[in-house]
Amino acid sequence: MNLTAVFLLFFIALSLFLFYLLRKKKAADHSSKESVQAPKSFAPNQVGQFYNEQTNNFLKVYGEVIQAFRTTQIDQLLDYQIESIGFEKGQRVLDAGCGVCGPARYFAKKAGVQVEAITISKDQVEKSRKYIEDESLSGQIKVTHGDYHQLQEYYESDSFDAVYFLESFGHAQNHEEVINSAWGMLKPGGTLYIKDLFVKEAAIPSLENDINKEIQNINQAYRYNVADLYATLKSIRKKGFILSSVKTIDLPLEDFENLSISNDFQELTGINKIENLQEYIFPVDFFELKCFKPWNALEYGNSRYFLQNLYYMQVHNRKQEEL
Ligand SMILES: C[S@@+](CC[C@H](N)C(=O)[O-])C[C@H]1O[C@@H](n2cnc3c(N)ncnc32)[C@H](O)[C@@H]1O
Repeated sequence: MNLTAVFLLFFIALSLFLFYLLRKKKAADHSSKESVQAPKSFAPNQVGQFYNEQTNNFLKVYGEVIQAFRTTQIDQLLDYQIESIGFEKGQRVLDAGCGVCGPARYFAKKAGVQVEAITISKDQVEKSRKYIEDESLSGQIKVTHGDYHQLQEYYESDSFDAVYFLESFGHAQNHEEVINSAWGMLKPGGTLYIKDLFVKEAAIPSLENDINKEIQNINQAYRYNVADLYATLKSIRKKGFILSSVKTIDLPLEDFENLSISNDFQELTGINKIENLQEYIFPVDFFELKCFKPWNALEYGNSRYFLQNLYYMQVHNRKQEEL
């Protein structure tokens, strides 16, 4: 090998090495940028702290039902929810993220259900207990301070006819874990119901940034982790739930509150105040999701959920002939 060839080889090796270093630096820059931009998610104790501090303000503006997507006549909203969840008298139901038990007390009285209610805020537990006692509902509602990611720590598994989340699911630090936790609580055939806000799909690509920015503002202001609808559906289906419906909440339009209540709250607390409502890109859509835990029982083998039951039995190594 002559000197020129050695020199050429050395030059090629050096170029390759430099190229490798450059690529490595680019990848490192990219991932550090991602981690700076990654949305912050809030842990349950931070959410609890937020509600300990803000529940009095919520009560002033929202009253005892802390939901933004609502009707001016709050009874209409709760009647709609009784219908949507499908409560039957005497059922045992779990209110996951119960606030001050405004909905739970209404459901106990109007639908005759037995409610276990859980909230991550100690202040809300105290307030709920007082309301429940004042309304003589102690025999029908029990409130627990706890985290709905870990429902198995507080309740017996397979013991509820329904588990419902009314604008509480989106606070979850880990949405999938919460869905799995609810699954564990439900009797076969039990209902999981979620009413919440989900990240909006950008109609045109240039809106995507605005939406993401506003989502981060909401998350920061309300200690929320606004869920992605598709990821939520994926977790629901992955667990094996029978998806019954995903829909826009059909509240009567003439009584709809137009979300002005969120503005009143923002006025009172200064939290996430929207300066120019006309130009504000509303970054979420509200949906209700309803699904059932499969029956996994012979007497339901020939129901219209045959395929879902069969799949569940296959996954759990049950015999197909049993169906
Ligand atoms: C917007 S409020 C809705 C309250 C109630 N569902 C209603 O309709 O009035 C959200 C509720 O979710 C509860 N929450 C949030 N994260 C929770 C968690 N990890 N475990 C239990 N409750 C939680 C909060 O404490 C609060 O009560």
